[in-house]
Amino acid sequence: MVTYLLLLKGTNKDLASLEFEILFKTYYGEDIKLKQIRNTLFFFSTNKVLTRQEEFLKRLSFTNTVSKLLFKGKIEEYSKTLSSQVNPCMESFALRIHSSFANSSVYKEKGLDYFAKAMWTVMKKPKIDLNDPQCVYHFHYDEEKNEILCSEEFFENSKDYLQRMPTQRPFCKPYTIKSDLARASVNMLGLKTGLICDPFCGTGAILLEAQSMGFEVVGNDISYKDLMGYRANSFHFFSGFPSLLTLSDSRELVFKEKSIGGLVTDIPYGKSSRKLGTELYEQFLLNAKKYLKNGARLVVIYANFLEFEELVKKHYKVLGQAEEYINKSMTRRIIVAENC
Ligand SMILES: C[S@@+](CC[C@H](N)C(=O)[O-])C[C@H]1O[C@@H](n2cnc3c(N)ncnc32)[C@H](O)[C@@H]1O
Repeated sequence: MVTYLLLLKGTNKDLASLEFEILFKTYYGEDIKLKQIRNTLFFFSTNKVLTRQEEFLKRLSFTNTVSKLLFKGKIEEYSKTLSSQVNPCMESFALRIHSSFANSSVYKEKGLDYFAKAMWTVMKKPKIDLNDPQCVYHFHYDEEKNEILCSEEFFENSKDYLQRMPTQRPFCKPYTIKSDLARASVNMLGLKTGLICDPFCGTGAILLEAQSMGFEVVGNDISYKDLMGYRANSFHFFSGFPSLLTLSDSRELVFKEKSIGGLVTDIPYGKSSRKLGTELYEQFLLNAKKYLKNGARLVVIYANFLEFEELVKKHYKVLGQAEEYINKSMTRRIIVAENC
């Protein structure tokens, strides 16, 4: 068994956990459950040995780093145990001292050099490099158990999605969502490849992220202006266009039956969108059932003041839910469901 430590984005740990757990299952078929150690620090154990090359890591939006746990224990065992875990072929390294460790009595007493020595003595040609180290070791402290946690990082999120945040897009509307939430929503479809559809695609926040991960995409919206905006955004980022864009009311059947691998959307909430109401939502959900292949998923973002969950439960099997706080008058909810 290997234990991995994750530093999740502090803004939404529930969504971050759900995104990671679903992607892990998508790539390795294994159900894992992240457990919290403190604040944004989580862990899980598996027999799977992960490396920097894992495809799913590049897709993550709400996970900042993933590292392999090398040592967990008391100061007395630190040097001996860690030395056997350090790769002697590494040439440069850096230590990341997190606040829990920096504030611990062991760190205050022993100092940075004591902890770096375990790496320094094992590596053949050691060099400390704070700018571009070959290996980063993270140090945390578990106050409850009085234990040091030292791990070796193999993934740091490049946050490539930041380039596609609303302010960076040539065209955007106030109701568009941020690219990190859009990316996590696509990830929760549990797909590696396939055709993804957004029947309320607007200016394309969600489909842009799907495109960036290599999915084929089709979109629909009732607003011509939004669709043209999405086309412009798509061309700006990918020098290409979505496979199909349709201008239609989502109550109509727009896409071919059983043609869609995953449907992900941010439905109109009523405040700044045109057509509202349960009738629209239910008709869209029924149409989505027709578009989706058997067992395929639907991920829908909606506002907390809408009665949407019950409608989804009526027609689909709910697999998971998360929330994103926007302001005191609105929280976004994200529901993941399966076409059963
Ligand atoms: C919350 S916004 C989605 C925004 C989108 N994610 C974006 O990045 O711009 C909802 C979208 O639903 C569209 N819409 C409203 N009623 C519709 C309907 N009956 N059929 C299709 N689209 C509709 C609106 O034009 C709007 O673009």
